[in-house]
Amino acid sequence: MCGIVGYIGDRDLTSILLVGLERLSYRGYDSAGIAVISDGELSCWKKPGKIHALNEALKNMIIQGQVGIGHTRWATHGEPNEVNAHPQLSQSRRVAVVHNGIIENYLELKSKLKKEGHIFLSQTDTEIIVHLIERYLQDDLESAVELAAKDLVGSLAIAVVAEADPDKIVVYKKGSPLVIGVGKGENYIASDVNAIISHTKNIIYLDDGELAIIEKNNYTIKRNGKIINKEIQTVKWDAVISDKNGYEHYMLKEIYEQAIVVRKLISKYLQNNKVHFKSLKLDKEELAKIKRFIIQACGTSWHSGLLGKYLIEKYTRIPTEVDISSEFRYRDIITEGNKIVVAISQSGETADTLACIREAKSKFFKVLSFVNVKGSSIDRESDGVIYTHSGPEIGVASTKNYVAQLVSLYLFMVHLGILKWTLDEEKVDVMLNNLRRLPEQIDKILQQTDHIKKIAKKYAKSKEFIFVGRGVNYPTALEGALKLKELSYIHAAGYPAGELKHGPIALIDENLPVVCIAPQSETYDKMISNIQEIRARKGKTIVIATEGDENIKEYADDILYIPLCPEDLTPILAVIPLQLLAYYIALELNCDVDQPRNLAKSVTVE
Ligand code: F6R
Repeated sequence: MCGIVGYIGDRDLTSILLVGLERLSYRGYDSAGIAVISDGELSCWKKPGKIHALNEALKNMIIQGQVGIGHTRWATHGEPNEVNAHPQLSQSRRVAVVHNGIIENYLELKSKLKKEGHIFLSQTDTEIIVHLIERYLQDDLESAVELAAKDLVGSLAIAVVAEADPDKIVVYKKGSPLVIGVGKGENYIASDVNAIISHTKNIIYLDDGELAIIEKNNYTIKRNGKIINKEIQTVKWDAVISDKNGYEHYMLKEIYEQAIVVRKLISKYLQNNKVHFKSLKLDKEELAKIKRFIIQACGTSWHSGLLGKYLIEKYTRIPTEVDISSEFRYRDIITEGNKIVVAISQSGETADTLACIREAKSKFFKVLSFVNVKGSSIDRESDGVIYTHSGPEIGVASTKNYVAQLVSLYLFMVHLGILKWTLDEEKVDVMLNNLRRLPEQIDKILQQTDHIKKIAKKYAKSKEFIFVGRGVNYPTALEGALKLKELSYIHAAGYPAGELKHGPIALIDENLPVVCIAPQSETYDKMISNIQEIRARKGKTIVIATEGDENIKEYADDILYIPLCPEDLTPILAVIPLQLLAYYIALELNCDVDQPRNLAKSVTVE
């Protein structure tokens, strides 16, 4: 994973690098560091922990210099300490590199270099890159980087500075994203546009195999040693400065923004009761002919995909498969027929999801993506895109974008149903009216926060949790369990409620809280039977039920009510108390809810 940034120019180098790193911290926050060349001399500062540790370390220092690179790390090789933090330096400490990606043949290269007398200080794969570059460094830095890149197997976006060639940053991209920001008398590089967008909107997206030499007044891009011309694209969006707006955490703010997000999606995509997706780019005829969807995504986005399958199959009768991206890539997918691969991703940068898009396109699938971040790799590489428009999601655990994905998938399903004639106008009217009621219903759920806090306090000391649901709420059970795990580090598992008796029921005793998602639905009675089975084994039941369900009181230790809505929409409402439950349990346990340990907002390694 990791984020890299670089600057060459006359402005305040340190602050440009540190602000850039802050904006890239969604890519990892295990450590941060910068390397600067000043008067031909390389200096490096790095600190384990979040960017603010580095900020603190540098706050009273005056760092001069016109060339610098920075890095925020998500540890892959070696624990997140200072030695393993980037920039990694060469043996002479005169070359520095920052790296995003994984070098797969690093052990082999390391042992070769060791035999030549190289001494390694870190456990990182990155350190071998900088040793290799120094080994090849004779005339100019770019030739050395080019030669080193040839030896490296894996994914890499690197930025390199060297005392021997002090007026440039050399970057190389293969697999991991990298952009150049073009300025006047200054230039930038970064893992993504948002790190530098407040300085320049003129962006060059590098492609795999490209090397660039970035100088103050110039930049040169090469492929296989030959200079190439690349188009400068002007990004159309502005820097989004996101603050907590008075909330204690970004996550809480984002949970509270969910009604607004749903309203925004409805107003963007519904006009005169018709669904319009401007950026879809796949024409109606093409869509109407689709015989099969294969959805692929990771984590929370995969949970959205699971609901997508229910909706698409139920209302459009198009067979739909759902894969976890890292599995899709390695299975021998059947490519016959008229099919579309659907990618779902908040960040638009998830390496596995992106790799599947490339794999799918190489097999002549069209790719449609549901993406939140505009300009991201998945956005740019898909044939058609539906934006989930949830705005910047800063909390590492996805909340508002999950709801946005569910609403977008619902609208997409309605759109398809109309195209395929599986939904008539009357039915569509009812469906859309129910959708329009959601924001108000979400706000109503958010009024129960005090009650949820009490439940969180009661169960915060539990060692593990189980979440169960059926049908459309099986994904909700998975999502509730994921939120709790990532925020509170309590082990939690989600199951289809009917599966309990096939094994997981063995876990149930008086210490195990079981969150049961049981709104009014076709499977309500079956859920009640499952809840009884849990109670018979003394499990504690926290039940998500529909307002007015008095019957449930008999079976629940604690109840969280959601307003009445059609079954297909219940996942959108039911997930909200689960997000709050995870949030408040994590607070009880003093966990860092916005940046939980070991995680990153965007998973850019496979
Ligand atoms: C969980 C979470 C992750 C992401 C997953 C995919 O709260 O945020 O599970 O959903 O890493 O990320 P995107 O959607 O950016 O592809």
